[in-house]
Amino acid sequence: MNKYQLRFIIGAFVALFATNCGLNPNKSDGSGVEIAADSLSANQIKALTEEVNLDELDEDIQVFTLKIGNDPDKNHLTVSFPITKYAFINEAERTKAETLIAEFKKEVAEQSPQASSALDFNQHFEVTCHSSELISFLHTRSTSLGNNYDDTFYASLYDLQAERRLSASDLFDSVEQFAAFAESISELAQREVRKHIDKTSGLDTPEERNALWEEVRTNVIEGTRPTDDNYDALFVNEAKEWYIIFDKYQIASGAMGTFRFAIPTDLIARHISPKWAKLVEQPTIAPEPPISTPSQTQPRELNPNAPRVALTFDDGPSVYTPRLLDILRDEGVRATFFVIGKSASVQKKTMMRMAQEGHNIGNHSYDHKNFAKISLDEARRQILLTNEAVAASAGIKPTYFRFPYGAYTNDKLPLVGLPIISWSVDPLDWKHRDATRIASEMSKASSGAIILAHDIHKSTVDAMPQTIRNLKAKGYQIVTLDELFAHKTIKANQIYTNGK
Ligand code: NI
Repeated sequence: MNKYQLRFIIGAFVALFATNCGLNPNKSDGSGVEIAADSLSANQIKALTEEVNLDELDEDIQVFTLKIGNDPDKNHLTVSFPITKYAFINEAERTKAETLIAEFKKEVAEQSPQASSALDFNQHFEVTCHSSELISFLHTRSTSLGNNYDDTFYASLYDLQAERRLSASDLFDSVEQFAAFAESISELAQREVRKHIDKTSGLDTPEERNALWEEVRTNVIEGTRPTDDNYDALFVNEAKEWYIIFDKYQIASGAMGTFRFAIPTDLIARHISPKWAKLVEQPTIAPEPPISTPSQTQPRELNPNAPRVALTFDDGPSVYTPRLLDILRDEGVRATFFVIGKSASVQKKTMMRMAQEGHNIGNHSYDHKNFAKISLDEARRQILLTNEAVAASAGIKPTYFRFPYGAYTNDKLPLVGLPIISWSVDPLDWKHRDATRIASEMSKASSGAIILAHDIHKSTVDAMPQTIRNLKAKGYQIVTLDELFAHKTIKANQIYTNGK
């Protein structure tokens, strides 16, 4: 049984016993026709990604986010993958994303009709290294079949000169070098697992600890053998440090979780091909010019008597956000962006533009986990990492928060530390990818409305010029949340659904 099968068996076990005990999630739309899991074909994904005009990208690496469904109580999937100026990378990354989508569809197809828990598949990435020779991404795949998430990791390393993806074995000049490297990693892993066992509570005697060690030692040995599969999460970061992540169940029992090690530099120097080890001496691509604090955007002259509506965009930034910013600038409209922390770290220039062009920035979590499912510690981490990612990219901190899917449990509210924003108009733009329909739904907004939209969908961005014309024709001023709430004091940890 491989680790995937094991994971699903355990997941199914959790799903069987997990009920919605005591949770009070405030759900997003729970009615209407759900997008069928097979409605996103491989051809559509290929067409959508190839349509992105690489010449117009103002950043070398941007985020493409695909969603199937968006209702936390029904099966849903979110997968974010990089779009770069390199076609061979885009092709490989899209193909990897499609494997997750295929796995999701398979799980949906095999799902028992009595299943009480929805499948939640989520994948996002970080850019760990971007040099003139190599780009490295670390992907985190989180799946949930009950009330918790299980994470697995894999890295994608690309040789920019040879234009190809590197598997772990490509990093070594010979099979023997890979084997020698794996041998050292195995010793390191055995020490770490042993240390973990010695710290595990509930094991009081040396005999108990030894017995557990004997049980898991074969796992460590198997899980560290020199195969591409075992080393699929070997990556290097901007500081030229190499890491390996071993997934849950790979080298130890599930309860021991994920193991992540920094690899000693002497091991890299001794075994990894000099071509890649010398990356340690390669300069990275010149970093972006240091981020200046955005010039404090001047408050605008607004008519105090004209009714106001606020446009809010969730789940970005994405490949479509720069064009949305162009539209808003050309129309003289300011909006609020509820961003995903991981995506903000990838599209730093886009984030800087948001701040400089007078938009508000909100926190929409680090990687769009369902806050009704995660622990208090994980919720804190999601909020904090996103505040930091926004400050590092846009030069300002988020001033509002919105829960992914609008889902939460009441114990999460005091952690937020910012006013929590819901919405009063939902055009269901994640479901109906039709610009005319989205524009018509958004244009139904009344005074004080907070309109929900997603800047990860091309159709939503396509709908904006018409939406803005319609709202202006009705006499509305389209404003940021700061401007919508200008007449009243709003408080941290309180939920607001409109500006009244
Ligand atoms: Ni969202």
